[in-house]
Amino acid sequence: MKVLVTGVAGFIGSTLAERLVSDGHQVVGIDSFSDYYDRRIKESNLARLTDVNGFTLLEGDLNTADLRTVLDRVEVVYHHAGQPGVRKSWGADFTDYTDANISATQRLLEAVRNSAPSLTRFVYASSSSVYGNAERYPTSESDRPQPRSPYGVTKLAGEHLVNLYAANFGIPAISLRYFTVYGPRQRPDMAFNRFIEWARHDRPLPVYGDGTQIREFTYVDDIVEANVRACDADVEPGTVVNLSGGTATSVNDVLDLLEKIHGEPLRVHRGEPALGDVFRTGGCTERAKTLLGWEPRMGIEEGLAREYDWLAARDG
Ligand SMILES: NC(=O)c1ccc[n+]([C@@H]2O[C@H](COP(=O)([O-])OP(=O)(O)OC[C@H]3O[C@@H](n4cnc5c(N)ncnc54)[C@H](O)[C@@H]3O)[C@@H](O)[C@H]2O)c1
Repeated sequence: MKVLVTGVAGFIGSTLAERLVSDGHQVVGIDSFSDYYDRRIKESNLARLTDVNGFTLLEGDLNTADLRTVLDRVEVVYHHAGQPGVRKSWGADFTDYTDANISATQRLLEAVRNSAPSLTRFVYASSSSVYGNAERYPTSESDRPQPRSPYGVTKLAGEHLVNLYAANFGIPAISLRYFTVYGPRQRPDMAFNRFIEWARHDRPLPVYGDGTQIREFTYVDDIVEANVRACDADVEPGTVVNLSGGTATSVNDVLDLLEKIHGEPLRVHRGEPALGDVFRTGGCTERAKTLLGWEPRMGIEEGLAREYDWLAARDG
């Protein structure tokens, strides 16, 4: 099967593309190599895909690329391109978020509508940040989204566009709401990556707030597995599904775990809570279980150790 992965040079997109190639699919990946973080990291994300039969890389921006050609004979689109990060989404940078998360999604959906007659599934990488400080925990897909950051607003807008095109044009779309993804290749701005790097270099770990904030961390291979399952799932166009890691963990508990893995005491510097961060995330995964037969498999202890080992091996 021919599939398209947008944002293929990123953390999740590159991991997904490797799995799809190893499953025997013909994978076309597109990425603009945005400057949100170092291009060399994105190039290294792609190292195992370069020169592999069945993988084609297109460097291009979804807002300007010739999407008709990109979508030629594509049967499944995994839309992971986007501008991530809650903290940078305030102020003048907001246009990066509207461009990458809203305009690019709309342009891709228009192209799919007009130029992808053989499409059987469109998977949209949505986010738990659409919930904001949720009405209840675990939060279910039918609870009212009320984002607390400009980033969350743009991810929700993207999801609404996906549902709009599903309702009006029957695009076979599913939106997967990811809860804080971690594991090898995690973005350098994300907490685990920063904590591990700073611990390894014996610098004080920068923690936003008092560390009591709770997250459901989801291992990247679990996210990839759900994407693969979403391809064949028998779902109504416009379905939304939580992908939540299963164990509610405070940042302080993560620091305790990391101290064990690191084998030496950590020095922690506690700063102000970050603007736009919510106190808690936690999603109900009943729908994922029913519709995708999906449950998170990786426990936080092993997953964090794997990310630690990956960074240690990368940096030598
Ligand atoms: N990592 C998480 O915890 C998490 C949680 C929820 C949702 N998501 C979503 O998952 C997706 C992937 O996240 P990630 O952590 O892998 O981020 P990432 O930044 O590593 O990957 C995104 C990729 O998209 C590319 N890109 C950005 N704008 C583009 C455009 N206009 N055209 C083509 N390519 C473009 C970037 O260059 C980047 O390589 C994003 O849409 C993000 O919002 C991630």
